[in-house]
Amino acid sequence: TAFATFVRGLPKAELHMHIEGSLEPELMFALAQRNGITLPFKSVDEIRAAYQFSNLQDFLDIYYQGAGVLRTAEDFKELALAYFKRLAADGGTHAEIFFDPQTHTDRGIAFGVVMEGLLAGMDEAEKTLGVTSKLILCFLRHLSEDSAFETLELAKPWLNKLAGVGLDSSEVGHPPAKFARVLQAARDLGLKVVAHAGEEGPPAYVWEAIDLVKVDRIDHGNRALEDEALTARLVKDGVTLTVCPLSNLKLCGVPSLDVHPLKTMLALGLKATVNSDDPAYFGGYLLENYLATAQAVGLTRDEIVTLARNSFAGSFLSEAEKAARL
Ligand code: ADE
Ligand code: ZN
Repeated sequence: TAFATFVRGLPKAELHMHIEGSLEPELMFALAQRNGITLPFKSVDEIRAAYQFSNLQDFLDIYYQGAGVLRTAEDFKELALAYFKRLAADGGTHAEIFFDPQTHTDRGIAFGVVMEGLLAGMDEAEKTLGVTSKLILCFLRHLSEDSAFETLELAKPWLNKLAGVGLDSSEVGHPPAKFARVLQAARDLGLKVVAHAGEEGPPAYVWEAIDLVKVDRIDHGNRALEDEALTARLVKDGVTLTVCPLSNLKLCGVPSLDVHPLKTMLALGLKATVNSDDPAYFGGYLLENYLATAQAVGLTRDEIVTLARNSFAGSFLSEAEKAARL
């Protein structure tokens, strides 16, 4: 349609995408075979059939299992490059991608192997697709603060290749406060700080993320809308929210896309953006998130432009780079 062509043609940045969450079943199968790993699935169709989630944890269990096929730098490079190709096809021109090093180091894959592979994919994407990117190291919040500090230590030789750190995995029971010290240590090293908050967790977690951790962006943030004072604060401070509509739908954060709060967020003056989170698992990459949400809640072209602008404004590009790309 003309609308889809318009949305695809707008330059867009993706600010919330876990690279391990872009592992398509086809590549998962191919890597399992190449690396001599036996998957508990007999076919790609069987894998896809298993992607039915009632909540975040249901998804995480299968997502961490899937990531087990990634072993070599070449695997990580292929994974990243496949994502950037999809992004470019969707009219994405910049991405700030998350990765979960503990998922790999805990099974004996060296931190440097992950970094080398992802950086090679990012490099090639910029050269061959013109897509720029940055890396955000996420600490797994279901693990300990000590483990996060150990991971930050492993990252120190790679600091100039990292834009920031984030906080992901099981939210409820693992508030931002648990990681306030390690996130501060990362900030002291010159890294930006983001955190998943208000995906399944209460508004109190979003308060902690802004007041205690002083995050540069909130990932998701949906449940902030339950708290008027919190919403007002996010508007006043112009905090970017990296919203992931299809993820919210698949993880049952919303019962249907028709009642997704994205349009309301924009109406309230929140700096919302659209992102795919874990596109291989949630059934849509960046453009599909824009289009499905636009269809469901009735986004205008002006609102789409606002979302695309918000994506660059909320990125970790320099002010000069933003001005050139908005
Ligand atoms: N890891 C990958 N995707 C995630 C999400 N949506 N929330 C928390 N952790 C994640
Ligand atoms: Zn996420």
